[in-house]
Amino acid sequence: MDWTKQASIFRGMLWLALLASISTTFAFVGHLGPQTASITATARSGSYRTASNTLFMMAGDKKYKIVLVRHGESTWNDENRFTGWYDCPLSIKGLKEAEEAGKALKEANLRFDMAYTSVLRRAIHTLWMCLEELDLMWIPVKKNWRLNERHYGALQGLNKKETVDKHGIEQVNIWRRSYDIPPPPVDKSSEHYPGNDPKYADVDKSVLPVTESLKTTKARFLPLWENEIIPDIKAGKRIVIAAHGNTIRALVQHLDNISEDVICGLNVPTGVPLIYELDENMKPIKHADAIAPLQGHYLGDQEKIRAKIEGVAAQTGGKKLGNHLPKTFGSEYICGW
Ligand SMILES: *[C@@H]1O[C@H](CO)[C@@H](O)[C@H](O)[C@H]1NC(C)=O
Repeated sequence: MDWTKQASIFRGMLWLALLASISTTFAFVGHLGPQTASITATARSGSYRTASNTLFMMAGDKKYKIVLVRHGESTWNDENRFTGWYDCPLSIKGLKEAEEAGKALKEANLRFDMAYTSVLRRAIHTLWMCLEELDLMWIPVKKNWRLNERHYGALQGLNKKETVDKHGIEQVNIWRRSYDIPPPPVDKSSEHYPGNDPKYADVDKSVLPVTESLKTTKARFLPLWENEIIPDIKAGKRIVIAAHGNTIRALVQHLDNISEDVICGLNVPTGVPLIYELDENMKPIKHADAIAPLQGHYLGDQEKIRAKIEGVAAQTGGKKLGNHLPKTFGSEYICGW
């Protein structure tokens, strides 16, 4: 075979490869429901763009996905204590919830390249069980204190009755309902002061909380989101985050621009994966199954999930919910009890 013939065969193969990659791109793009509309618009607006130019634009129209999982019930849940940064294990029920979260992820064929979690064992264990179900225990896991639950200051470790006896029901209700009023700070001699815990030995004491409101919880979580998680997402990593009620609230409040009043009444069910599709600006793309005020959607049977959200509300003394929110903002809605 002479050289020119070989070269022309080679060129032919290149063309075939190019055509194959173009059609795969189209098939892939066609798969992404909500994105199709914006792509059509892009193609129309550039009436005389070449095919390859349009393809390039499509490839630049990125869409990302993140999955959030709230850990299952802990051993302090049934004792009705303010848990916060106290590192109690999952209860038997919590282990079951974590397993179910993993099964739901597997059933949905979700794959991940890396994971984030807090430095608290109930979230870490939940993540382990999810990764075990997915056969992904080998992927990198970044553990960070900024994903921890809200710190409840001097209330940490107290149960409902002890708290009311000590501080009075009126004051307790103020803390329960408030977005930005933190409970009294934990004493620096207490085991609940993070500065006394070897877990936080590497964290500058000036940034370690002594008490937190939902507002300050969000403020200490967001630097992790902005500085580490977003860059990983943009680098193409498919990420699962196993975290806590209030750090997930903080993130969805940020993503969905939820008001302070509304976020305090939002219940995130335990062990139910919550999936967000994000555009290139990290803005959520509303899913058809989204339950207001969220734009992301929970994985699984939507009726069961609504019942579970109502269950969370019932446990914490909230009203029955039609969606995430109490029908009336009476004395019963809570902010992280
Ligand atoms: C967020 O919501 C507030 C009203 O609660 C609105 O004024 C603001 O423009 C919204 N921001 C974005 C980025 O949508």
